[in-house]
Amino acid sequence: MPAHLAAPQSPPSPGRIDVHAHLLPDVDDGCKTVEDSIACARRMVEAGYAHLFCTPHVWPSLPHNSADEIPGRVADLQAMLDAVGVPLTLHPGGEMNLRPETVDDPADAVVSYGMRGKVVLFDLWADRLPDFFRPAVRHLQSGGVTCVLAHPERMRAVQLDPGLIGLFTDELGLRLQGNLQCFANPVGSMTRTVADGLLRRGAYWVLGSDLHNPRSLDVRLEGLRNAIRLVGDEAVDRLTVTNPRELLAPPAD
Ligand SMILES: [Fe+2]
Repeated sequence: MPAHLAAPQSPPSPGRIDVHAHLLPDVDDGCKTVEDSIACARRMVEAGYAHLFCTPHVWPSLPHNSADEIPGRVADLQAMLDAVGVPLTLHPGGEMNLRPETVDDPADAVVSYGMRGKVVLFDLWADRLPDFFRPAVRHLQSGGVTCVLAHPERMRAVQLDPGLIGLFTDELGLRLQGNLQCFANPVGSMTRTVADGLLRRGAYWVLGSDLHNPRSLDVRLEGLRNAIRLVGDEAVDRLTVTNPRELLAPPAD
């Protein structure tokens, strides 16, 4: 083919996007100090990440982790990363814990990706699906919000009843976020078995680090390499680059 008819080269990859990280210092059980946050950010850049959503736990016991306060904390940490030359773009978000009281949460109390009110990340810890699950999810979804369930492979209810995945995705329209660390758990462990199975069958929408500190970051990045070994670069790029792009704000005209 003549050079002038060659297909245009695809634009350079924007890098991976971490959709779940407890990077903000001293706000929950994540990074305790700014130094730890910077160390984690530097490692994520080295691992190919260009964007990261700071998703602190949104719990009643942590009232400052709110839609009002998280963006300012993210901006503060971004300024610190910029000052030390770590090229990672941070975005505000949160990991909402699904509770019986979620059905009463006003819309402006819901913490979403980019605080854009479009996509919400939530977690639930339960041995069986509680009765409040459906109404709480429906409440979050009202107004067209897309809900992402954090690390279903870690939920005991899913480990005991893998059929719940079909209910989540097909009946409730949830998207699933897998944790990188689970792909580095011991082979044969319940969490690793469920995580590998969901990855193989294409059930995940995105993968996130769920990083909490520099000490546990190595094993999470080992999980990323294991995931690539299991399903290949293209599939993992879809879960860490292509699909999470939907969460980024559209570029300004
Ligand atoms: Fe988390």
